[in-house]
Amino acid sequence: MKLAVIFGGVSSEHDISCLSAASILRNLDREKYEVYPVGITQDGRWYYCPDCTADTVENGEWERLNGKIPALLPPDRSVHGLVLLRDGKTETVRLDCVFPVLHGVGGEDGTMQGLLELAGIPYVGCGVAASANSMDKSITKVLVDAAGVRQAKYYLALRYDFERNAEGVVRTAADRLGSFPVFVKPCSQGSSVGVAKANDMLELAAGLTEAFKLDDKVLVEEFIDGHEVECAVLGNHSPIASTVGEIAPAQEFYTFDAKYKDEASQLYIPAHITPQQIETVRQNALRVYAALGCRGLSRVDFFVTHADGEVVFNELNSIPGFTSISMYPKLFAHEGIDYPALLDRLISLALEEHHG
Ligand SMILES: Nc1ncnc2c1ncn2[C@@H]1O[C@H](COP(=O)(O)OP(=O)(O)O)[C@@H](O)[C@H]1O
Ligand SMILES: [Mg+2]
Repeated sequence: MKLAVIFGGVSSEHDISCLSAASILRNLDREKYEVYPVGITQDGRWYYCPDCTADTVENGEWERLNGKIPALLPPDRSVHGLVLLRDGKTETVRLDCVFPVLHGVGGEDGTMQGLLELAGIPYVGCGVAASANSMDKSITKVLVDAAGVRQAKYYLALRYDFERNAEGVVRTAADRLGSFPVFVKPCSQGSSVGVAKANDMLELAAGLTEAFKLDDKVLVEEFIDGHEVECAVLGNHSPIASTVGEIAPAQEFYTFDAKYKDEASQLYIPAHITPQQIETVRQNALRVYAALGCRGLSRVDFFVTHADGEVVFNELNSIPGFTSISMYPKLFAHEGIDYPALLDRLISLALEEHHG
């Protein structure tokens, strides 16, 4: 089976994507898959990279390797794969499946999924609408509300209003939420980029100013004081939910540095919550997965409050981190599905959905 693994990309999570892809390249069974690594540079150029190893993808060296071949993935279904531009000539590679290992905009937001739909190529993970709806945290809020799952109270601030009357937006947000601290988050980022905790009006104004540099829409959310827990979901029409893992961030909250740089952040599997709470998280994860129309996989994140043990939805990641120490593969390893077997399942689900 010819399988392209697409990694890198133009989002702020380019480097994380390379880490995830390196683990996937290491764990794919080469007896089953003829693997085509396809790297997208930060400025959006595509290369088929026959000499890319997991190590060169991981350390970023792949971009400097010779022998990279400029590649296109056209929407034309007769190609059904890659067009390689080799020495002024074109060559096509028909693909059986694509694994988009891209986090954030241009990969996890439905755009890549749209291209693959047009091209008629089966791909791992959520479709266009589920990807787009889970990328935009304000749309996720509406769909999760409709599904009756509890989440943090929020106010949606728009750039249009903020540019005209910043003070008014800050005051309205503070009024609506009623108390500090609050969380400020750009609607369509990931890896905690642009996320800030604000303890007063001044910090809220500063947080909004920063967040609006990254996005036209920003959520201001009630602070939830609780365990930070995550559940891995796998499947198309009858998905399964893993046990629940917990993150103990090394910093005040789970910032970019706490996620990827600070060795002191810890994961616990299972989470340090009651079996009853684990069950509630799993059920709610499946409800949110269904409400957003996910397929393939997603990691669904919650808080379990310290005060009364309430389960509060936070966000859904349609292409979660996939390094060997990431929560998603670890949760399924705990369920007895090891990393290579998990990849096999995801690829089978992609084919099943496509040929469905
Ligand atoms: N309402 C909230 N209450 C408490 N902590 C929050 C809240 N929202 C976000 N956080 C903290 O910020 C981190 C990043 O926010 P999140 O919504 O998960 O965005 P991202 O898509 O960047 O991961 C979370 O992992 C958590 O530590
Ligand atoms: Mg998160």
